[in-house]
Amino acid sequence: MSHKTVEVALGERSYPILIGHGVLGEASHHLFAHLASNRVIILIDEALIDTHLHTLLKSLAASQLKYDIVPVPSGETSKSLAAYAALCEAILRLNPDRHTTLLTFGGGVVGDLGGFIAATLLRGIPFIQLPTTLLSQVDSSVGGKTGLNTSVGKNLVGAFYQPKAVLIDTMTLQTLPDRELRAGYGEIVKYGVLGDAEFFEWLDTHQAEILARKPETLAEVIAYCCSAKAEIVAEDERESGKRALLNLGHTFAHALEAEAGYDGTLLHGEAVSIGMVMAAHLSEQLDLCEMGLAERIRAHLQRAGCPVSPADIKADWQVVALLGHFHADKKNQNGKWVFILLEALGRAVIRKDVAQSAVRDTLLAFDGIRD
Ligand SMILES: NC(=O)c1ccc[n+]([C@@H]2O[C@H](COP(=O)([O-])OP(=O)(O)OC[C@H]3O[C@@H](n4cnc5c(N)ncnc54)[C@H](O)[C@@H]3O)[C@@H](O)[C@H]2O)c1
Ligand SMILES: [Zn+2]
Repeated sequence: MSHKTVEVALGERSYPILIGHGVLGEASHHLFAHLASNRVIILIDEALIDTHLHTLLKSLAASQLKYDIVPVPSGETSKSLAAYAALCEAILRLNPDRHTTLLTFGGGVVGDLGGFIAATLLRGIPFIQLPTTLLSQVDSSVGGKTGLNTSVGKNLVGAFYQPKAVLIDTMTLQTLPDRELRAGYGEIVKYGVLGDAEFFEWLDTHQAEILARKPETLAEVIAYCCSAKAEIVAEDERESGKRALLNLGHTFAHALEAEAGYDGTLLHGEAVSIGMVMAAHLSEQLDLCEMGLAERIRAHLQRAGCPVSPADIKADWQVVALLGHFHADKKNQNGKWVFILLEALGRAVIRKDVAQSAVRDTLLAFDGIRD
């Protein structure tokens, strides 16, 4: 079967991302060169056990690879210190060695959690990501950020740890719930808005094909997003500069997610969708970009069925509560608020001097937020 390859160029930590329809059924063929021994441990989202696991196992068994399966309950709560501890113990009982490869099979939750387990177990074992949500295929499986949530905040324990390879099968997306697909679409739009106006225009005409899960269009758009992110990560692996641009919409998104309470009422990609429109609105308000940009982005996302204001998820929030979450953002520096803003479609900049009053005005301009 044909597939596309995107190389993440990080010196000796470089690795390939393979993308195609049906590549999971040829997993051992594609992964063989990236395995350190004939033994793998599969960390799998429970939701995939009845749907996609057999495809992977058939391929592994055909090449006589030895495997164990460790299931992870679906959902963000599995990205916890408690789940991490229990899974480390479960994996250690299987007696792995430093050449055993951990395969993380699931969305961003299993990827972030499994990546952190791989980074720390036996002081580091190799791992390979098999991402199965649109969000994880276009974003979280690229760049080596791994981590866990704590009671103080999300993603506050973690490590930069690169996989040996990533294998993306667009076929797995056929079973993804619509809402999760749209959440992933929010992150796709982000790449156009922050760095490539032409790609944004391409999305204008290909949006329907992506949402209809047309395999060739999915493979094309996933490959584009992976290479866009890979290029930025190759320049700035540990986010000391340019990589921060990938956080477009995320300062707002994190505040919205915190207010929503991580209970599934607002998915991360949905928060990013609303957050991008807010970032564009704030950019207009600060005279950084021309008027109309926020509306253009809003209209595109709305047409895709992505939420574009808190009212779209039936929220009714007080602005002070939201502002409280900005104070806690780990990207703040010296009391100044850091935002990724827009000078134009496709041109994002980092601003470290944004006044609280401007953020407040932007928030109040959105339905579902009141004084
Ligand atoms: N490391 C990074 O750079 C990075 C970037 C963005 C997001 N993230 C993290 O990613 C996580 C979100 O990832 P996500 O959106 O993939 O969430 P997720 O892993 O929770 O998956 C979403 C839902 O889809 C289900 N699912 C997964 N694959 C499926 C399939 N093929 N068919 C049917 N159902 C399927 C899961 O069981 C879950 O219920 C967050 O924890 C976020 O912090 C990390
Ligand atoms: Zn994100």
